Amino acid sequence: MSASPSPRDRLFDEPRQLVDFAFDETVAAVFPDMIRRSVPGYETVVALTGLLAARHLDNAGRCYDLGCSLGASTLAVLRAMGTNPCEVIAVDSSAAMLDDARRLPGFDDRVDWVEADVREVEIDDAQVVVLNYVLQFLPVKDRLPLLARIRAGLRPGGVLIVSEKLAAGGYFDGLHREFKRANGYSELEISQKRAALENVMRIDTEEVHLARFRDAGFGATRVWFRCLNWASFVAWPNGDPR
Ligand SMILES: C[S@@+](CC[C@H](N)C(=O)[O-])C[C@H]1O[C@@H](n2cnc3c(N)ncnc32)[C@H](O)[C@@H]1O
Repeated sequence: MSASPSPRDRLFDEPRQLVDFAFDETVAAVFPDMIRRSVPGYETVVALTGLLAARHLDNAGRCYDLGCSLGASTLAVLRAMGTNPCEVIAVDSSAAMLDDARRLPGFDDRVDWVEADVREVEIDDAQVVVLNYVLQFLPVKDRLPLLARIRAGLRPGGVLIVSEKLAAGGYFDGLHREFKRANGYSELEISQKRAALENVMRIDTEEVHLARFRDAGFGATRVWFRCLNWASFVAWPNGDPR
């Protein structure tokens, strides 16, 4: 994302009053460190998102990065495209995230930063839509309508890339906790962050995701990455392209 290391995430390391988690300036400032130490496989998923996207982007085609945060997936798409033309519409509702993203190196004028709610952004003539770790932050009732709009806005040869935490049972939940501990988070940090996320992050099972892609009109879906209780999906509008 950036050549310089991100400041360390210490947001939850002192006892604090319970406040719902928000993607504000304090989170934006430590976000690369936070997501790398919290989401197993994050760096692999981001890099492969770029490769997947590039496979579907041609003739200066359009990619949406919905819930882009600091633009990690956007940057991966640009890198995978080399100097080839494309248009990446990078959308986030957090002004703090977009302010920081715009200051990071590596982006160029192929990127259009848009401060908006993904539920209100028009999806038009897309070859690629990326929705990495975002659906889980939307109210459950808004997820299917968003996916259906994405499906309608994708070209026939396009692709939707979705990454999410899954409700996958206590075994993987326990391992995920150990992953965070191994990455230097204390019990206090883990439990305070979990409490802060409780009202804002609602996760679904893999089966719920697969059924919802079908209901949204996608012809086929595959899981292309899985690590503990985290997964990444590709969904194609008109069935498996191979
Ligand atoms: C976990 S981060 C996504 C990480 C990013 N896609 C990546 O791979 O680095 C979730 C992002 O979604 C954004 N977000 C959440 N709800 C949103 C909404 N309704 N509209 C736009 N952005 C939203 C948040 O501001 C936050 O930046």
